[in-house]
Amino acid sequence: MGRVAELAGVSVRTLHHYDEIGLLEPSTRTAAGHRAYSAGDVERLREVLAYRRLGFGLREIADLVDDPATDAVAHLCRLRGLLMDQRDRAAAMVTAIDRELEARARGIRTTPEEQLKVFGAQLYDAIGSAYPATRRTEPRIAARIWDALGDARTVLNVGAGTGSYEPPDRDVTAVEPSAVMRAQRPPGAAPCVAAAAENLPFKDQSFDAAMAVSTVHHWPDPVAGLHEMRRVARRVVVFTYDADDTGWRQRFWLTRDYLPEFAELLVGWPSLADLTRAIGGHAEPVLVPWDCADGFFEAHWRRPEAYLDEHVRRAVSVWTRVGPQAEQRAVTTLREDLSSGRWAERNRDLIALDTAELGLRLLVA
Ligand SMILES: C[S@@+](CC[C@H](N)C(=O)[O-])C[C@H]1O[C@@H](n2cnc3c(N)ncnc32)[C@H](O)[C@@H]1O
Repeated sequence: MGRVAELAGVSVRTLHHYDEIGLLEPSTRTAAGHRAYSAGDVERLREVLAYRRLGFGLREIADLVDDPATDAVAHLCRLRGLLMDQRDRAAAMVTAIDRELEARARGIRTTPEEQLKVFGAQLYDAIGSAYPATRRTEPRIAARIWDALGDARTVLNVGAGTGSYEPPDRDVTAVEPSAVMRAQRPPGAAPCVAAAAENLPFKDQSFDAAMAVSTVHHWPDPVAGLHEMRRVARRVVVFTYDADDTGWRQRFWLTRDYLPEFAELLVGWPSLADLTRAIGGHAEPVLVPWDCADGFFEAHWRRPEAYLDEHVRRAVSVWTRVGPQAEQRAVTTLREDLSSGRWAERNRDLIALDTAELGLRLLVA
């Protein structure tokens, strides 16, 4: 055991722990009767340590290494993909840090939005712990997504977060790059792989369907991520929003009257046509019910007081991305308008509506 620990660069205690929890039990005996690691055990240890280094939890690793459908070569291919992805993200982070150092040397301070944006999924490592407070499955939207999945038996959920919208009656595999989000998946949730949409560690056509919910706008390269979904699955379902039509930004009172900075977050965002073309499908509007259970940005369109609640805002990345100044100004003005009756006067028509068209779309291919 000592020799294996030394070679692998781990402590003997770690190996004892893996043995105790059944993750890696030495399967042979030495002539003196001591337990020893076979070649197969060493192979398994290599997989365990590699997944560990990628940030997987021990329970997730046990599921991965025990999966009878994945042989040593498949593990190596998956590990290679994940490590390449991690290397690319580390390189992107170094570039971002260099850029910020350069800017600071010239006396320029980057905005919180710029600082977080460059780190991609790291935004969710920063804000993800606030997510479960108000983000959950909205059953009417879930029904639309599950219907669009058709008769798919195996489903890949990309940018899966805490697992909202994962269909309970299918064989789901989740992909989520943020360790904070992965750690908040409920016990019994589908197995989750640490990877990004742009580089899915799966073979072509491995799943009947791939789905992505409220996540595409966080991907550094949405079109590349959608191509990847298309590659690994026969059917693709994406819940996102239409950023082309500036009209809908105007229609939502929150962005129109309080948070015009939202428009800046959409700069450079691919058109709905580009997104649908990437999967070769079509877009269907999704109306937001007035009592929407999932607290995404548009959810409280008929319950304006909700936006005064810090918990509601912290679970929606838009508020972090616009920065604290814009956020505070929007909240203060909204609070004033709610107490003066100005909000009610301006938005009188909303009270009669049960659903609103706020640009949310289901892309299906
Ligand atoms: C708003 S959450 C949505 C989570 C979940 N789909 C839901 O509906 O509750 C966005 C998720 O996208 C993930 N994400 C960010 N960049 C990603 C990327 N490049 N590939 C896949 N997921 C990414 C974030 O870590 C976060 O968990």
